Amino acid sequence: MSHPPLDYGYVPGVLPAMIDLARRQRAKDRLVVEKLADCFRPGPILEIGAGCGQLTDLLRQRHLDVTASDVQPFFVDYMVAQGLPALVVDALDLSAGIEKPYDNIFSQSISTLINPDPETIRRTYESVRAALNPGGRFVFILPSRWGEHWSKASDHEQIAQAAGLPLLRRFHNQALPSRFYARLPISALRIIEGSIGRIVGVSWVLVFARPS
Ligand SMILES: C[S@@+](CC[C@H](N)C(=O)[O-])C[C@H]1O[C@@H](n2cnc3c(N)ncnc32)[C@H](O)[C@@H]1O
Repeated sequence: MSHPPLDYGYVPGVLPAMIDLARRQRAKDRLVVEKLADCFRPGPILEIGAGCGQLTDLLRQRHLDVTASDVQPFFVDYMVAQGLPALVVDALDLSAGIEKPYDNIFSQSISTLINPDPETIRRTYESVRAALNPGGRFVFILPSRWGEHWSKASDHEQIAQAAGLPLLRRFHNQALPSRFYARLPISALRIIEGSIGRIVGVSWVLVFARPS
């Protein structure tokens, strides 16, 4: 028997706070997507667990072919209203929600990977692998440097590897608190992020590749 997906507290009432958070983080996210753009291989990108779609929006401004998705229809309705291509897709069964595999899948902080249940994490990586073309990439932003005790970068690497998604590369991201990114010149921020950000950054960017 299949169960409806868990909402993890993402109900319509959270939308205004998430839109506001995305607005406050926009300057920081603009730099993040510059780095992400290097992690993808040529071809379409699917963002999963996209929430209000701010990263898809910024990636599309860089002329990347990105479609957003989330399991919650209210997020998808919001993204479509913002002019973004967006689909209702469950990360635990991506193949059921897409027409064909993608060259790239991307996510930041999706609930099924930031999760205390290793089985849910494993199912997500297996679902991502099945939804990628051979050689395709999965780029995941893990929001905390050290991880919760149940969600460290090394745990993700191990579970993804067992699911058939070996790690290609990883780096730290975000050297400063988000509020500084709107205040400092972008040229200075690029230098900071490209140097100390990669060593002391507060989040991880993990790039996995499905073997060809
Ligand atoms: C912490 S929010 C992150 C939102 C967005 N990625 C961001 O960084 O602002 C977690 C997101 O995961 C989504 N989510 C939860 N379960 C999911 C599932 N089974 N499939 C796809 N998305 C899911 C939630 O609806 C929510 O949008």
